[in-house]
Amino acid sequence: MLVSGAAGATGSVAGQIAKIKGCRVVGIAGGPEKCAWLTEEAGFDHAIDYKLGNLDQQIAEACPEKWNVFFDNVGGDMLEAALNHLNMRSRVVMCGGIANYNATTPQPGPTNIMNLVIMRSRMEGFIVLDYLPRAGEAIKDLLGWIGEGKLKYQVDMQEGFENIPTTLQRLFTGKNLGKQLLKVADPE
Ligand SMILES: NC(=O)c1ccc[n+]([C@@H]2O[C@H](COP(=O)([O-])OP(=O)(O)OC[C@H]3O[C@@H](n4cnc5c(N)ncnc54)[C@H](OP(=O)(O)O)[C@@H]3O)[C@@H](O)[C@H]2O)c1
Repeated sequence: MLVSGAAGATGSVAGQIAKIKGCRVVGIAGGPEKCAWLTEEAGFDHAIDYKLGNLDQQIAEACPEKWNVFFDNVGGDMLEAALNHLNMRSRVVMCGGIANYNATTPQPGPTNIMNLVIMRSRMEGFIVLDYLPRAGEAIKDLLGWIGEGKLKYQVDMQEGFENIPTTLQRLFTGKNLGKQLLKVADPE
């Protein structure tokens, strides 16, 4: 399984669940600190630093047998590079597309979308709210895995109501290390 946005709140949990379920997991993240956390703390098999460039070649080297599932949080060029390395009957979980959230003009889709046809593969949108009725099951599993030390997470806590805009921007600059939270005040 290949995961983009892998060191973030969503991607890091998706990748670790895949690992718990027996997959070989490769994460894509920005910078050496995030990549080290993925392999040394979160147990990913390999981390790709996309900021080093040449993503296509990095994916080829990290996934010599290609991937069967791509859990995509980023879209854009990252999705395009990933679609060059899919296996037959593979699946893309379209969780997000943060690369294009701030685009001011409509962005083109991947130019290699026909690879899905050739490889008889699927892309499907995923919205967590569809699974709300099963939240109890998920919370039970997630808490169990945290308790067993199988699931690691990071919380990035900023402070101050006045810092809401700059805290939101951290998601887009990649400054956040893990789940981005903002403390606005102490409880009364
Ligand atoms: N479908 C759903 O139900 C659902 C629910 C929640 C979130 N999401 C989606 O999941 C994704 C992650 O959300 P999150 O809240 O967990 O945030 P997050 O992953 O903790 O933080 C966002 C990360 O995205 C990466 N990023 C930002 N701009 C990028 C770009 N142009 N190219 C590549 N990477 C970029 C940065 O990581 P790097 O430093 O590694 O670049 C940043 O740290 C988002 O796309 C969000 O919309 C979907």
